[in-house]
Amino acid sequence: MRRPIFAANWKMQKTRAEAAEFVEKLLPLIDGTDAVDVAIAPPFTALDRVAKALRGSRVALAAQNVNPEEQGAFTGEVAPGMLADLGCAYAIVGHSERRALYGESDGLVASKARALLERDIRPIVCVGENLSEREAGNTLDVVGRQLAGSLAEVPHERAAEVVVAYEPVWAIGTGETATPETAQEVHGFVRRQLVDRFGPGGEQMRIQYGGSVKPDNVDALMAQPDIDGALVGGASLQPDTFSRIVCFQPPGGAS
Ligand code: PGA
Repeated sequence: MRRPIFAANWKMQKTRAEAAEFVEKLLPLIDGTDAVDVAIAPPFTALDRVAKALRGSRVALAAQNVNPEEQGAFTGEVAPGMLADLGCAYAIVGHSERRALYGESDGLVASKARALLERDIRPIVCVGENLSEREAGNTLDVVGRQLAGSLAEVPHERAAEVVVAYEPVWAIGTGETATPETAQEVHGFVRRQLVDRFGPGGEQMRIQYGGSVKPDNVDALMAQPDIDGALVGGASLQPDTFSRIVCFQPPGGAS
């Protein structure tokens, strides 16, 4: 059984005070949801503040990016060891915004994932096709290529620590979600790729769905066999919507 994982990706939003206020409101709302993992990825500037606010809770701290080098002349960048020092348990790598706006390649994403594992930080590796790729019928080719390239440096014995986030670009921030069946089709494909590459470790890897996940669609998404949680952008900015997502209702029972 894979343990679901929900992560809040705040992107370039929230000051330190806003971040701390969010955590204070969120924690009581998700009290009792012990069966899932929860992580919050604030901007770098709020990591320390959120780390303090989360102390004593079971919510993990996550970063939104990392540089694969340990130190050096890389103006504006943040090293894996610095994230470890802040207490980050996870870091998002290869988000489609970074791939599209900052030219991140699969090779770079792969080196970030490896560098994070060396610091015992779990990478959340994002993949996903854009609209023209989907319309051209290339979704699985694109996702397969991104997966192979982005996970190329993950050692087999560390595979289970890696989280994959399937985020169709056309569904991010658009209000348009993949239907649960469409998402499952790709998640099932991702699962087969992971098992082919990592063997039994691939069965344990969690695959999040991302792209306009909201309180009103999370239950149906989570009912799919290979959807193991969500990477949430817009709906993670308010404690009440994010907590409702974390407290999803599995089919036929309470979470
Ligand atoms: P969204 O963003 O939930 O606002 O669509 C998801 C993401 O970019 O990770």
